[in-house]
Amino acid sequence: MLTAHATLDPAFRIAPVDRRLFGSFVEHMGRCVYGGIYEPGHTESDTDGNRLDVAELTRDLGVGVIRYPGGNFVSGYRWEDGVGPVAERPRRLDLAWRSIESNEFGLNEFMAWTRLAQVEPMMAVNLGTRGIQEACDLLEYANHPGGTYYSDLRRAHGVEQPHDIKLWCLGNEMDGPWQTGHKTAEEYGRLAAETAKAMRQVDPGIELVACGSSNAEMPTFGTWETTVLEHTFEHVDYISLHAYYEQHGEDRASFLGAAAGMDRFIEGVVATADHVAARKQSRKRLNLSFDEWNLWQQSRFAGHTNLDWEQAPRLIEDTYTVQDAVVFGSLLMSLLRHADRVSIACLAQLVNVIGPIRAEPDRPAWAQTIFHPFALTARHAVGDVLRVQTATDRYDTAEHGDVPLVDVVATHDEETGQVTVFAMNRHTEEQAKLDIDLRAFGDLVVAEHLHLGGTDLDAANSIETPERIAPTGVAGATTEGRRLSAALPPVSWNMIRLVPAGR
Ligand code: AHR
Repeated sequence: MLTAHATLDPAFRIAPVDRRLFGSFVEHMGRCVYGGIYEPGHTESDTDGNRLDVAELTRDLGVGVIRYPGGNFVSGYRWEDGVGPVAERPRRLDLAWRSIESNEFGLNEFMAWTRLAQVEPMMAVNLGTRGIQEACDLLEYANHPGGTYYSDLRRAHGVEQPHDIKLWCLGNEMDGPWQTGHKTAEEYGRLAAETAKAMRQVDPGIELVACGSSNAEMPTFGTWETTVLEHTFEHVDYISLHAYYEQHGEDRASFLGAAAGMDRFIEGVVATADHVAARKQSRKRLNLSFDEWNLWQQSRFAGHTNLDWEQAPRLIEDTYTVQDAVVFGSLLMSLLRHADRVSIACLAQLVNVIGPIRAEPDRPAWAQTIFHPFALTARHAVGDVLRVQTATDRYDTAEHGDVPLVDVVATHDEETGQVTVFAMNRHTEEQAKLDIDLRAFGDLVVAEHLHLGGTDLDAANSIETPERIAPTGVAGATTEGRRLSAALPPVSWNMIRLVPAGR
């Protein structure tokens, strides 16, 4: 029988769980903005055109922060096009997604939407076709109180108070040859450092993210980070990383082990950032912004050069299965396990475009399978992440080497005493017996054991059956003699919530 043993102790803390770990991403791409968060005239929309059903699902998802407006889109974006009277805003070609951008929705509309959705904004500046001046102009427009050209322009646009946006990305995926204005690490490093210095002059209170690698398979991965950080280390707060996972052909074993790839990617970037710190004899520890991550069947996307010029076309509206939700849940576990160095993480994207939320013109919005592990983790991973050493069998994968069959992460909330255990069973046929030593805690009882997976792995939600897949309970989890014992179905993601006895 497959077993997994671990010991939890509140003293073995990795880091507190930051709400910014549960971020997401809204890009002017496909139907994420138009027909996603914003759709004037829809029966579910308010008078500003914001879809209230999508905003409500965003709140239910538990999103902490939203990155905007791109993505590849930002590298050709003129932010001024998206402010001021809507009727006067230009229609432009968006080269990144070969789309027509109406600019009906821009910075001020986004900021109003963040208040509706109760999320923190994270803004990206264009360092593809633009540079230091335009980044500073945007920051002045957004954050300066008044009495200058751009801050008064904002006020003239009806926004009296500064937006006070704290988090700023210095461009997007500048290492990628597909990026408009793609740069070498040297070129980008210099530009990012100078932009960071100038932006901090405008507003010293901001936090800045430098672009790391677009994925771990980039030929420049590692050297890109080293060079960029040689220039920017003192001037930025975070280095970014992006990753999208999919099953390649029949290789299900590697797909189920995707979190091992994510672990390795994170640890590689941490090592590189710390290498630069050592070279610079700096005690500063640069943290990570994993500001795009998700599952994406990228190999099925024909690429932006094959698209027709359209406004808000249906792009990469992937459907997620139960198995996807299981793997997705394990990626969240990888992020939690690295909470000491990953400070921000954004699920890309929020709605329609590889989104956990789907929206159609004539129906209420609905949740895909991946919505559920995100919402449960965001709600119940509270307090501190605990260090967990799991003893279990391993299996071999083509992409990630050997991977544990059972993966476990746990959080502990000192205030309420709640311990939440997240566990994935990667075995395709056998259930796993989970045994956790809880002797360092008081008496705990199982409040709930929810799971996704086990059977029906190809099933998905759809507009016709939006609630077909949701987490369901697993019977039998108990705590006896301060040990948790639970059964994890084959190919499943699980959340077991333990609360102090008698509460
Ligand atoms: O999220 C879709 C795209 O993936 C983003 O625009 C880009 O940054 C990444 O390559």
